[in-house]
Amino acid sequence: MDAIRIEVTSERGTYLVIIGAGLASQLPALLKERSLDAQTLIVTCPPVWRVHRRRLRNVLGKHTPVVLPDGERAKTLTTVGKIYDAMLKRRLDRSALILAFGGGVVGDTTGFAAATYLRGVRLIQVPTTLLAQVDSAIGGKVGVNLAAGKNLVGAFHPPSLVVCDPLLLATLPRREFRAGLYEVVKYGVIASRPLFDSVSTNLNKVFAHDPALATSIVSDCCRIKADVVMSDEREAGPRRVLNFGHTVGHALEAVTRYRRFLHGEAVACGMLAAAQISATRGLFPADDHAQLRDLIARMGPLPAVADLRTGDLIAAIEHDKKVVNGQLHFVATSGIGSTVIVSDVQTREIKDALRAIGLRR
Ligand SMILES: NC(=O)c1ccc[n+]([C@@H]2O[C@H](COP(=O)([O-])OP(=O)(O)OC[C@H]3O[C@@H](n4cnc5c(N)ncnc54)[C@H](O)[C@@H]3O)[C@@H](O)[C@H]2O)c1
Ligand SMILES: [Zn+2]
Repeated sequence: MDAIRIEVTSERGTYLVIIGAGLASQLPALLKERSLDAQTLIVTCPPVWRVHRRRLRNVLGKHTPVVLPDGERAKTLTTVGKIYDAMLKRRLDRSALILAFGGGVVGDTTGFAAATYLRGVRLIQVPTTLLAQVDSAIGGKVGVNLAAGKNLVGAFHPPSLVVCDPLLLATLPRREFRAGLYEVVKYGVIASRPLFDSVSTNLNKVFAHDPALATSIVSDCCRIKADVVMSDEREAGPRRVLNFGHTVGHALEAVTRYRRFLHGEAVACGMLAAAQISATRGLFPADDHAQLRDLIARMGPLPAVADLRTGDLIAAIEHDKKVVNGQLHFVATSGIGSTVIVSDVQTREIKDALRAIGLRR
């Protein structure tokens, strides 16, 4: 099957997102074709390097990669410092490339190092989680966490190339894969009925990592994200639709101190809450609502929510709203494949929706 190429125009020029099974092994040719064959520093993390190092052997030459500690806790300025050190040690100048080979954590952290080292060097994203392939590797947002909160330091640094190889996803823990798949479902709900149907109808094949199906699903998502970010690169209006399910999702992550939910799982619960609010308002047809609930149920178990307090969730949503700009622009759905922004959502409606998704207190 041929690779799929999507052009993304950013304020810094145009870059390609290439999606195809087996592409990671063809990286040297892809880099060369895009005139990106400069000195390259590869940045990765232990689980990815352990299982996929052979695929990048031919890009690496004689250099060893920088292997960052794994996980969200490593998304810090200290880790960024390790990348700077490696670049200095190798005497990399402004013509060098940094290649992020990992999930969203590696991509965001490496991207921030690339944005800032010598005021910016070129970045190649080779995302290895489903979430990173459909979301974090595209759009140019990079950054790290501070002790006070997530993604508080960041930059806008579009990549020079994004290479998505769905074969890399076969080694993901099932729960991580599923978490990314909830974001895929989100793209279906906000923008594409055919994408939603393709996941719903072929769920077993999706979990079996069928390469052609994965390529088609990942490229549909990349196309939607690319379209949205091109219309709204720095997030003012249209980019908001990407936050479907995220108002309640972020609150669930915050009240459980980022320990109970993977991001995508919190988004799944948030989508169910947003769907409930949409349905109660008469925006979301009952049949579509049933299909969304059914698909999320068939995908597998979600973390428990019954013990969480609706009051704590509301407080977290209010806090988020203050941090944004004082107004809650709630992304609702008006049917699978389309969204509406509503700016008058009442606390009462959110509380009712939280009860509907299982909160008891
Ligand atoms: N920049 C953006 O626009 C944007 C958008 C969404 C999310 N994000 C960020 O992305 C991060 C989450 O990314 P994530 O969900 O990819 O998590 P992650 O990077 O922590 O990866 C999840 C786990 O899977 C492992 N892993 C990665 N690829 C693997 C593979 N192919 N095989 C086996 N194991 C593998 C990782 O080592 C890690 O343990 C968050 O920090 C979030 O803020 C950024
Ligand atoms: Zn998300």
